[in-house]
Amino acid sequence: MAEIIDGNKIAAEIIAELTNEVRSLRGTPCVAFIRVGDDPASISYVRKKDKTAAEIGIKSRLHVFPETVTQEELFTFIDQLNADKTVHGILVQAPLPSHIDETLTFRRIDAAKDVDGFHTVNLGKLCQEDRSGFVACTPQGIMELLERSNLSLEGKHVVILGRSLIVGKPFALLAVQKGPFANATVTICHSRTKNLPELVRQADVVVAAMGKPEFVTADMIKENAVVIDVGINRVADASRKSGYRLTGDVDFSAVSEKASHITPVPGGVGPMTVALLMKNTVKAYRQQSR
Ligand SMILES: NC(=O)c1ccc[n+]([C@@H]2O[C@H](COP(=O)([O-])OP(=O)(O)OC[C@H]3O[C@@H](n4cnc5c(N)ncnc54)[C@H](OP(=O)(O)O)[C@@H]3O)[C@@H](O)[C@H]2O)c1
Repeated sequence: MAEIIDGNKIAAEIIAELTNEVRSLRGTPCVAFIRVGDDPASISYVRKKDKTAAEIGIKSRLHVFPETVTQEELFTFIDQLNADKTVHGILVQAPLPSHIDETLTFRRIDAAKDVDGFHTVNLGKLCQEDRSGFVACTPQGIMELLERSNLSLEGKHVVILGRSLIVGKPFALLAVQKGPFANATVTICHSRTKNLPELVRQADVVVAAMGKPEFVTADMIKENAVVIDVGINRVADASRKSGYRLTGDVDFSAVSEKASHITPVPGGVGPMTVALLMKNTVKAYRQQSR
């Protein structure tokens, strides 16, 4: 039976460390959140980030725009935040409405305040293994989960399901880096990958980030593989008051029988993403306060 990697516990450790660190600073880090529209998942993610910031002693500002906001209006506002010396980190919550170009929006943020790590400069720094840059919070959170569980990727075959800029690609770059806990051999799978189950069966470590409920089944998993489930899927469930339940991209109960370690959903990668956002905000503050 797999050992469960407790993301809530590890995230709480990071939050406690950051709380102490923030207390010792001369000023107060501040992160600005921009939300567009009223997508329920976005509202809940931003609320969680806001609450965690307050817990640590990080200031936060929430700016909500209607679904009808124009690209130019958004750019003008980001420019104001870029120029505001009291704001150290800026996060634009995705997804954005289809008339807004996400890539251009992320690029508009000053790279020094890009605590989400989606700016071209920060993605470039990740490729170059330049640690002054910001790395996307979810992949960084997965690395922290592995490190703090003493699971090194050195020489391991890591198979990543999903090639998004938010999870799959940056995680591949972190895993393949030279350095402690990394040095992995990486395979990235996506919707055009042939023989995907065969590739997953070769994995020492599987990172599932597709957004496909319970896609990864026990027959795809090698005995004693480490399984990291990034997926957050809402599946209809009439027995619940909310009418849905959250599930990952992995068939948790069956895969737990074969894996050596596994992350649950919820309570695995999700809390780490928020904790690493806070870590990036403190890093941004420190860099801007030099
Ligand atoms: N825990 C957290 O904090 C956290 C953070 C971010 C995201 N998530 C969750 O992680 C999941 C992925 O998010 P994302 O933003 O990376 O999603 P995304 O941008 O939609 O990317 C999904 C990736 O999965 C691939 N894919 C989809 N169906 C596939 C299939 N049947 N076979 C093989 N590959 C397939 C896609 O391939 P193509 O590129 O070919 O389309 C794409 O590369 C979602 O459930 C999301 O909610 C969780």
